[in-house]
Amino acid sequence: MNDVVVRSLGDDEFRAANALFYGTLHVTPPTDEQWERVRDVYQPGRVLGAFDQQLIGTARSFDAELVVPGGARVPLAAVTGVGVRADRTRRGVLSALMRHQLTDFADRGMVAASLYASEGEIYGRFGYGIGTRFRDCTVHRHRARLRPGVPSGGEVELVTSIDDMRRRLPEVYDRLPLRPGMMTRGAHWWPGLFSMLHRQGGPVSAVVHHGPDGPDGFAVYTVDRDAGTGGTMRLLDLHYADASAFAGLWRFLLSVDLIQEISARHRGLDEPLELLFTDPRACETKEVLDESWLRLVDVESALAARPWRGEPLVLDVTDPVLPRNSGRYRVGSDGVRRTDATPDAQLDVDVLSMVYTGAWRPSALVAAGRITVREPTTADRVDELVLTRSAPWCGTFF
Ligand SMILES: CC(C)(COP(=O)(O)OP(=O)(O)OC[C@H]1O[C@@H](n2cnc3c(N)ncnc32)[C@H](O)[C@@H]1OP(=O)(O)O)[C@@H](O)C(=O)NCCC(=O)NCCS
Repeated sequence: MNDVVVRSLGDDEFRAANALFYGTLHVTPPTDEQWERVRDVYQPGRVLGAFDQQLIGTARSFDAELVVPGGARVPLAAVTGVGVRADRTRRGVLSALMRHQLTDFADRGMVAASLYASEGEIYGRFGYGIGTRFRDCTVHRHRARLRPGVPSGGEVELVTSIDDMRRRLPEVYDRLPLRPGMMTRGAHWWPGLFSMLHRQGGPVSAVVHHGPDGPDGFAVYTVDRDAGTGGTMRLLDLHYADASAFAGLWRFLLSVDLIQEISARHRGLDEPLELLFTDPRACETKEVLDESWLRLVDVESALAARPWRGEPLVLDVTDPVLPRNSGRYRVGSDGVRRTDATPDAQLDVDVLSMVYTGAWRPSALVAAGRITVREPTTADRVDELVLTRSAPWCGTFF
C-alpha cells in the first residue's frame, strides 16, 4: 500500500469520484442532467481521492451539527460517498482514506463524525460505533383506527411539485426542535433528497403540517400503485415538532384513499406509532437495525458537551486511530476532565460512541465483553451515569 496517495480532490474531480462511488454500489452514475441536481452534495474541500496510477477510491463528508443528549449541538462531519474500486479492494485503500479523513477532522476541530454503513463490519475498526438505531414498520391502513384520545392535529397542506418542496421543506426542518441523535440539514444535504425524489418513477407528494405557531412538521411519500388491492404508500421522510404534529400527519396519511399499507422506514425506536391505534398490531415492525454510526473525534469535548448523572467514574478510553484521545477521563455530574486515577471501566472509542448517545446500555456492553469494569457493580453505576430520556434517532439518511 506504499504507493497509494490520498489527497483532497478539486471541484473538477468530483464527478469522477461520484462515478467511482456509484460503480462500487453497482448503480448507474448520474446523467448530465441528474449530476446538475446532485453536484452540490459535494462540499468543496471535503472530498478525498485515493490514487495509484489513477483514482481508485474516494470518501467525502459535509459539515453539519449533531444534537447530543441534553440538547447541545456539536460540529459534526457527516461521512458518505465511500467506495474503493472493485479491483483494488482489501489492500488498505479504505484504511488510508479513513486515517486521512479522521486526522483532517481532528485538525479542523470537528467533535464527531458519523455515517450510515452499507455493511456492519466495515467501520468499527476506525472507531465508529452504532450511535442510533431505527425500525422499519408497515402500517396496515384498514386496521389502523386512531384511538379517541389521539390529538386532532392541525391543517395539512399538500405540496406536489419538487421545486415547491425544495423551497418549503428546509424552512420547516430548520424550525423543528431536534432531539438527541438528530443533525442539522444544510446546503450539502438537501440536494441529495431532491435528486432522489426526481429519480422516483411516479409522483412524489409532500404535506406540511400547520400548528398554532405555523409549519411544524412535514411528510414526503410516494405510492406504488396496485389497482387490485390498493397501493403501498412509501414514507420517505417525516419530521414533526410535537405530539400534535405527529398525530396530525399520521391522521392525514391514513386518510389518503386507495392505499392498503404504509411503509414507514428508518423510524426512531421509541416513536409511539402503534400507540395511536386501537389495535397496536396495525403497526408491524419489520426490522430493527443500526442507523447512524458515530465516531467521537475529540473525546474530551464530546464528553463535556453532554450531561452526566451521579457519582463520577473514571473511563479509560483507547483510540488507536487518533491516539490523542486515548487516556483516562473522570466523568460525572460535576463535569469532565482528564485524570491519572485508577479506571473504573475500560473501553475502545467505538464503544464509547455507543454509550455516549444512549443507544446502548453500558451494562449490555459489559455483558457483551465490550466494556471491562473494575468490579461487577460498576456496570450499574455506568448505566446511571449515561442515563438518557429517549432513544437517540438520526432520521437523516446520507
Ligand atoms: C467497503 C470498502 C470501501 C472497503 O474498502 P477496502 O479498501 O477493501 O478496505 P481495506 O482494505 O482498507 O480494509 C480494511 C479492513 O477492513 C476489512 N473490510 C473492508 N471491507 C469489508 C467488508 N465489506 N466486510 C468485512 N470486512 C471488510 C478488510 O478485510 C480489512 O481488514 P484487515 O485489516 O483485518 O485485513 C470497499 O469494499 C467498497 O467499496 N465496497 C463497496 C461500496 C461500499 O460498501 N462502500 C461503503 C459505503 S458506506
